[in-house]
Amino acid sequence: MTSTPIEETLVLIKPDGVERQLTGEVLARIERKGYELVDLRMLTPSRELLTRHYLEHEGKPFFEGLLAFMSSGPVVAARVRGIRVIEGFRSLTGPTDPTTAPPGTIRGDLGRAWETPTILNIVHGSDSPESAARELAIWFAA
Ligand code: TYD
Ligand code: MG
Repeated sequence: MTSTPIEETLVLIKPDGVERQLTGEVLARIERKGYELVDLRMLTPSRELLTRHYLEHEGKPFFEGLLAFMSSGPVVAARVRGIRVIEGFRSLTGPTDPTTAPPGTIRGDLGRAWETPTILNIVHGSDSPESAARELAIWFAA
């Protein structure tokens, strides 16, 4: 018998989510799903931190705009724990583009049309156990 995996994931409420006062709404959805908030912090991330966080996207056409947007104001970072929470939070979040994200998801319900080249989609969630470990170490370094 395999044991039930209890995981931790990194959730970010991005500057658009914080500015639109959706922090409580997003955290409430996480809690209602049964996931546990283990740690929380609020900060305006530096370009250096964001370059490490978005390593996989360096050199892509949207990279510079993404860094400018993500460093434009406060972000809430959450360490979230639960059974299969990495996959589960990605499912709660919905796909990258809020315009076509299904209703019921955070991006589908709350994402508004945006005019910038950078997609504004309220939240980030780690996409694998490897990403979660790497990203949590960046945002919650001792
Ligand atoms: P990505 O990791 O592909 O999406 P997700 O957040 O769903 O895992 O991209 C990271 C962020 O970069 C994404 O949330 C929004 C932004 N982005 C753009 O602005 N333009 C793009 O074409 C893509 C693919 C992403
Ligand atoms: Mg991603």
